[in-house]
Amino acid sequence: MEYTLLRLVHIGTVYVTLALFLLRGFWMLIDSPSLKRLWVRVLPHVNDTVLLASAIAMLVVAGMNPLDQPWLIAKIVGLLAYIGLGTVALKRGRTKAVRVKAFIAALGVFAYIVAVAVTKQVVPGVL
Ligand code: HEM
Repeated sequence: MEYTLLRLVHIGTVYVTLALFLLRGFWMLIDSPSLKRLWVRVLPHVNDTVLLASAIAMLVVAGMNPLDQPWLIAKIVGLLAYIGLGTVALKRGRTKAVRVKAFIAALGVFAYIVAVAVTKQVVPGVL
């Protein structure tokens, strides 16, 4: 029951993360000043904290050690890559071309993380 609820929270925040990232990516593409609004800068961090907290809570409730499960290690590595690429896409990228490439790569990594989550395989669909 606890686990089911945490999983729902986790999946809910995954949708919010994607929606906010797509919105901010769109604003980056059109050079919109909306990207600098306070709520736009704060809300993703609040949501990402809940996403990660629900993941950690699931591991605790289920007594899982992420280091024992290759698919969880893949998710953690994927998350770090997604955060890095996302920062380049929305902030650090010096030119629009760099930011767009980082944005597309970040979406690819996000899709990989979801595929790993659904299949529980490091290489979804192959192993
Ligand atoms: C951007 C980052 C993440 C995304 C997009 C994501 C996505 C998802 C999705 C879509 C599911 C549901 C899979 C299903 O259909 O069964 C899920 C489940 C889960 N995720 Fe994540 N996740 C992320 C980060 C993490 C991290 C960092 C961890 C922990 C290391 C984690 C641990 C879990 C666990 C334990 C489940 C439940 C698996 C199950 O019981 O079915 N997630 N995740």
